Amino acid sequence: MRTPSVVRAEGLPERVTIYEVGPRDGLQNEKALVPTAVKAEFVQRLVAAGLPIVEATSFVHPKWVPQLADAAELMALLGERGPGLDELDHQKLRVLVPNERGLDRALELGAKHIAIFGSATETFAQKNLNRSLDEQFAMFEPTVRRARDAGLDVRAYVSMCFGDPWEGAVPVGQVVEVGKRLFDLGASQLSLGDTIGVGTAGHVTALVGAFVEAGMSLDQLALHFHDTYGQALANTYAALQAGITTYDASAGGLGGCPYAKSATGNLATEDLVWMLRGLGIETGVDLEQVVATSVWMAAQLGRPSPSAVVRALGTGTAESGA
Ligand code: HMG
Ligand code: MG
Repeated sequence: MRTPSVVRAEGLPERVTIYEVGPRDGLQNEKALVPTAVKAEFVQRLVAAGLPIVEATSFVHPKWVPQLADAAELMALLGERGPGLDELDHQKLRVLVPNERGLDRALELGAKHIAIFGSATETFAQKNLNRSLDEQFAMFEPTVRRARDAGLDVRAYVSMCFGDPWEGAVPVGQVVEVGKRLFDLGASQLSLGDTIGVGTAGHVTALVGAFVEAGMSLDQLALHFHDTYGQALANTYAALQAGITTYDASAGGLGGCPYAKSATGNLATEDLVWMLRGLGIETGVDLEQVVATSVWMAAQLGRPSPSAVVRALGTGTAESGA
């Protein structure tokens, strides 16, 4: 296993939390349906690799995202006797929930934490949620309230923060207004989504600065980069310089959004861990185990991982048959 040379850079955080979205964002866009047992093993292996949070699946309408229509079966598999997961591990799992119907389903199956997902633009709200920009808040408000009453922690996503495939540029002020409104429903964290991967580093600095100016603290913000134009690591570095300590990533760089065709894979967890390790920033994640998991998953999916680090390190692991 090769490792990066470690040189600390001035002024960056000492520790970063990686929020793993592979089983949800990664698999929601796969053409082939992945067997539920494979998804369960994927989640279990990611937890075993030290990822502190794993977004396991979605309780959205099964017709809207057929790839995750087995959410109930997956939760049952990951349940009390789930593969290698104990009670502490269950606290690490989170599921995506758009509305009260989704929350009911998630609660029934023992979900511990949820994430809602809003849109910064009118067009994507319509396409992804079948709601107007304004209507989305009416859908999320009772969902968040009831989740909180049931003792669940709620994360909020805001999508299209750096650009929208239908509307083009999205003003920073609009993103801040929508994002704050979603967060103020009762979320503990707001994840800023570059859904189609068009953001660049200066834009990240400006957006984080605007949220801080609007009264949000750095630990309430997370960044969610897709790597369409290869900017995800540069954007992460800009966010590190701004003091952000939570980053979403997907093992092997899987990912996309079925309702935004120009969305490609997320920032790969391995690429992120490699860069952070080189900067001397702690994550608690075992890089070798994540790489082996992505190599195994690539074999299940029948194609190689797009992650540069998986390609560089993946050959020579026991399961490099992908
Ligand atoms: P809708 O058609 O407007 O739903 O869809 P509705 O409220 O009108 O209800 C219609 C029927 O659907 C009803 O059944 C409901 O019970 C049922 P009927 O009474 O007619 O028999 N229904 C449900 N069934 C199961 N589970 C549910 C559910 N909700 C309603 N949760 C809805 C509205 C929000 C449900 C739909 O638009 C939807 O499911 N959208 C999800 C799209 C999605 O999952 N996109 C990908 C995730 S977002 C993303 O990837 C971005 C992110 O990664 C960040 C970034 O990159 O920017 C997070
Ligand atoms: Mg995403």
